[in-house]
Amino acid sequence: MHLQVSSVCKSFGHGKARKLVLDHVSFDLHSGDFLALVGPSGSGKSTVMRLIAGLDHPSSGSICLDGQPVLGPGSDRGMVFQKYSLYPWLTAAQNVAFGMELQGRSRSEVRERTGYFLEVVGLADAARRLPRELSGGMQQRVAIARALAADPKLLLLDEPFGALDIQIRESMQEFLHQLWQRTGLTALLITHDLEEALLLANRVHILAPNPGRIVRSVAVTLDRTAMADVRLSAEFLAMREDLARGLRALEPALPS
Ligand SMILES: Nc1ncnc2c1ncn2[C@@H]1O[C@H](COP(=O)(O)OP(=O)(O)OP(=O)(O)O)[C@@H](O)[C@H]1O
Ligand SMILES: [Mg+2]
Repeated sequence: MHLQVSSVCKSFGHGKARKLVLDHVSFDLHSGDFLALVGPSGSGKSTVMRLIAGLDHPSSGSICLDGQPVLGPGSDRGMVFQKYSLYPWLTAAQNVAFGMELQGRSRSEVRERTGYFLEVVGLADAARRLPRELSGGMQQRVAIARALAADPKLLLLDEPFGALDIQIRESMQEFLHQLWQRTGLTALLITHDLEEALLLANRVHILAPNPGRIVRSVAVTLDRTAMADVRLSAEFLAMREDLARGLRALEPALPS
């Protein structure tokens, strides 16, 4: 898997109202990479994601997946959004099965993979429950199972845990980190939570706003075998502070 985002510019609006939102954004993603994109609100993070997902097109520049230009959405990219995006009238299992059915997989394969991925996210017992009968964290795990079950080359996560309370959020982070280590998935995570970025990603790009552009890229080399301890390590705290300082410099100064 190789994703190439090359010199992507994106503007919205016309004439005088035209606004440059992304300015020559370039980066690469290879199999097994876990990239976090952080930046202030409005810096264009979701726009980058939507372009990679094929939900919108760059104004200039290109996005290629394994050498092929991204022209529209496809099941080679699985998406998970901040808001639970499950179909409320389908059970957890039916939600997970949905995308695979669209892919034209056989009924037995769909059934088998649905069971497997519900188990991967720890929800085998919830297969027959409707989304409203599940907690926010459980719903988000179903959404992740649904994305993974379609066997995407790339998992796109736009603030997937933003709506969850802190405890569930931390257990989801741990879950995703283990999943990454176990399955070697390739992911692009958007977050404004620096801790989340450092806990999950092996590389962090900082996006500055107006217009959105990558101003810094940091490799994460923390030892994360014990997730709970990492948060307290001096190395982690120093990295977090360094990134936070970088981000603060991008925020407009408050009137004094
Ligand atoms: N479809 C659109 N039409 C016009 N402007 C848009 C559109 N989508 C995004 N924008 C503008 O592009 C800029 C970047 O938006 P985007 O949603 O990508 O930011 P973000 O970094 O994801 O912010 P947040 O952290 O708040 O989610 C904003 O100024 C937004 O108003
Ligand atoms: Mg956003």
